[in-house]
Amino acid sequence: MTQMAAPDTSIVILAAGKGTRMRSDLAKVLHRAGGRPLIEQVIRACQPLKAAQILVVVGHQAEEVGTVVAQLGAQTIVQQPQRGTGHAMQVARRAIRKSAKLAIVIVGDAALLRTETLAALLDTHRRGEAAATILSAEVPDPSGYGRIVRDAEGRVQSIVEEKSASPDQLAIREINSAIYCFTLEKLWPCLSALRPDNVHREFYLTDAIALLRQRGERVLAQIAPDPDEVLGCNTRADLAYADRVLRARKAAELMDSGVTIYLPETVLIDPEVTVGPDTVIEPGTQLLGKTRIGARCQIRTGTILHDVRVDDGAIVGPHSNIDSSRVGPNAQVGPFSRLRPGADIRAGARIGNFVEVKKSVIHEGAKAQHLSYLGDATVGPGSNIGAGTITCNYDGVAKYETKIGKGVFIGSDTALVAPVRIGDGAYVAAGSIITDNVPPDALAIARGRQVNKPGWAKARRAMLKHAAHGAKKPRSKRRKPPRKKSRRPVKSRRRR
Ligand code: UD1
Ligand code: CA
Repeated sequence: MTQMAAPDTSIVILAAGKGTRMRSDLAKVLHRAGGRPLIEQVIRACQPLKAAQILVVVGHQAEEVGTVVAQLGAQTIVQQPQRGTGHAMQVARRAIRKSAKLAIVIVGDAALLRTETLAALLDTHRRGEAAATILSAEVPDPSGYGRIVRDAEGRVQSIVEEKSASPDQLAIREINSAIYCFTLEKLWPCLSALRPDNVHREFYLTDAIALLRQRGERVLAQIAPDPDEVLGCNTRADLAYADRVLRARKAAELMDSGVTIYLPETVLIDPEVTVGPDTVIEPGTQLLGKTRIGARCQIRTGTILHDVRVDDGAIVGPHSNIDSSRVGPNAQVGPFSRLRPGADIRAGARIGNFVEVKKSVIHEGAKAQHLSYLGDATVGPGSNIGAGTITCNYDGVAKYETKIGKGVFIGSDTALVAPVRIGDGAYVAAGSIITDNVPPDALAIARGRQVNKPGWAKARRAMLKHAAHGAKKPRSKRRKPPRKKSRRPVKSRRRR
């Protein structure tokens, strides 16, 4: 993108309103679309313009909004109470740099706005030597928006809010995006002249347009090429739509860079996620936070990755849920794997279905394919963890480590009671409960011995069959006579 230095221009973002139509306790501009709060989307669209300042007018939940704004290096000014968009601009005036000649004014809920569109608006304003340039859009359904009223020669005359519009004006399909460029010395006198003559008793910035025209100033309206860009997020439905558009843009960007995405409308990819070429992303996946995926990977259906690094050639099977972990090159995880923070699955290792891993290193080529919990563990290269193996890492107070060497075989249904170490090349028999360290190359068996009772099952079947035919004798045999009730209390009997 070309650098667009605008040192004579201040950007003012209006974000003090509550957003009543959202029906939320959260300030409207903090609602998220495309993986970021609305206000962050707007600020990020402004940043490449390199304006003299980005000033955000805050009011409702000023502190929370201010935190997001400060993280992005923008300034805030508080509007309290909020008496309309015109009043917000009057408040902003106090914090606008004296050196600024122009201001770009943007509503804080315009989450789909693009930098290029702002740059073009600024350009039109400068070339047209206008006092105000409005970014407008032609939309099929203009309801809810202010309408751009033009005169017989097609010149902008005023903006009329929906609630004040005549039936003729309501039919106008050119709407006000509430994104403008103003020449400040022309705007200030009009702002002072605003009157709250409307149903909401508010000072409307939109009324400044008619005032400028009355003073004989030039007002332009530039029609946005893509009407989506000027969508204001007033309702949850608007929010969902904005999210969909932003997600589609991200998916399109990745596809352009060589990523295959099937049914891209079903995937949710956060803005900072990176994906390497020839990786295939299946429907219904979510790639969130700072997830980084290498080249030639498969991210299969229903998978959720949050802050995960997936290296080249790895496969994440269907319906895996991975958080703050790493999947090494050519490793395979899933289907139905759960990797919690700190799982480090090294090259070529495999984690299978219904395996949960937390804060553990699974070294090169090791496998845990079925139904296990590995927590606070290291599993050496090439070791095999049998189905149902559990690291018992918690004693109710503290967590302990399990260290499994290289080339170890852990039989199915083993409980490893941490802290415990299994030496290189050792074997642990299935069903063992391991409480002591196992030396290298040893076999550990820790379970009850098997007893076979010859003929027992056959005899039992015969007895049951007999009972079913109603014979009384075997019945009395089968049931032991009821024990005589002890007169002692239960407790003392136990103590004997
Ligand atoms: C506004 C415009 C309307 C336009 C629409 C585009 C006005 C009077 N109307 O209407 O012509 O079609 O945007 O989306 O400007 N705000 C403040 N302080 C206030 C009031 C609002 O900072 O006192 C902020 C809000 O937080 C919001 C923005 O200004 O981010 C716009 O306010 P909103 O209530 O959404 O205006 P609309 O009714 O949508
Ligand atoms: Ca709005």
